[in-house]
Amino acid sequence: MSQPRRLENVQTDRGSIPVYATGVVAQPWDGYTETDHDVWKRLYARQRELLVGRASDAFLRAQAEMGLTPDRIPRFDDLNRVLGEATGWQLVGVEGLLPELTFFEHLANRRFPVTWWIRRPEQLDYLSEPDLFHDLFGHVPLLMNPVFADYMEAYGRGGIKAHGLGAEAMQHLARLYWYTVEFGLIREPAGLRIYGSGIVSSSGESVHSLESASPNRIGFDLERVMRTRYRIDTFQQTYFVIDSFEQLMEDTAQDFGPIYARLADGDSLPAGAVLDTDQVHTRGSGEGWASAGDT
Ligand code: PHE
Ligand code: CO
Repeated sequence: MSQPRRLENVQTDRGSIPVYATGVVAQPWDGYTETDHDVWKRLYARQRELLVGRASDAFLRAQAEMGLTPDRIPRFDDLNRVLGEATGWQLVGVEGLLPELTFFEHLANRRFPVTWWIRRPEQLDYLSEPDLFHDLFGHVPLLMNPVFADYMEAYGRGGIKAHGLGAEAMQHLARLYWYTVEFGLIREPAGLRIYGSGIVSSSGESVHSLESASPNRIGFDLERVMRTRYRIDTFQQTYFVIDSFEQLMEDTAQDFGPIYARLADGDSLPAGAVLDTDQVHTRGSGEGWASAGDT
């Protein structure tokens, strides 16, 4: 354990991006200010209210069971006791986004990296990188769910494998993460619900993903997802819908090697594409879509 240390933005071929120390850090809980706690409290209250009837049942139940404190930033140590008992996962504090291989190695060992710092009050609605609220409120609850917990570990192992195969395999695997872990929807008896962390931690996208006429909502299909580009700077143009976490586990249990080989050099699809072979829940109106900028 070392002390938290956030490095400055550096200029790279992808523009100016924040770079962080890769080590695990102790959560500097005593160092949080009243403003930090207040940001947590406001975001927590706003999202818990918005997510009733919108987030998946499993997510809401897990989040309640975990005992996230509503008005103080939770202590990782407290959550680790609950999580460890439920599924064996542990949270580790980090400075921010990690290099891909480091991230995969944590997941493969059932460790979830959580950014220790929280956004400033003027960033309540949007932040371009993950902070404590996104990681803890958004990602950690489903680690209480045994099936999803196994999926995340499998993803980590799959990531290590893809990393060894090269940049194209990594890109295809990253799309799977994006369209499930970050922006996934699930079909429940009462209707479509959110389970993706990027959605549940965003007030705007919590509503947009389910209620807007603009995006497509399409049944999950592994290879289709892997071919689909995505947006990192706006709401998604397409959401993929799973029927259950068991389905996600089963569909991703196969060896991705042959799939990566098949997809290599193939064309990717625009984020907003709809194919004849898609199982379409809703076809988006496309209103407000930017025409360029898919990743
Ligand atoms: N089955 C995948 C592989 O062979 C690993 C994986 C599982 C990836 C679950 C993502 C999610 O690479
Ligand atoms: Co995330």
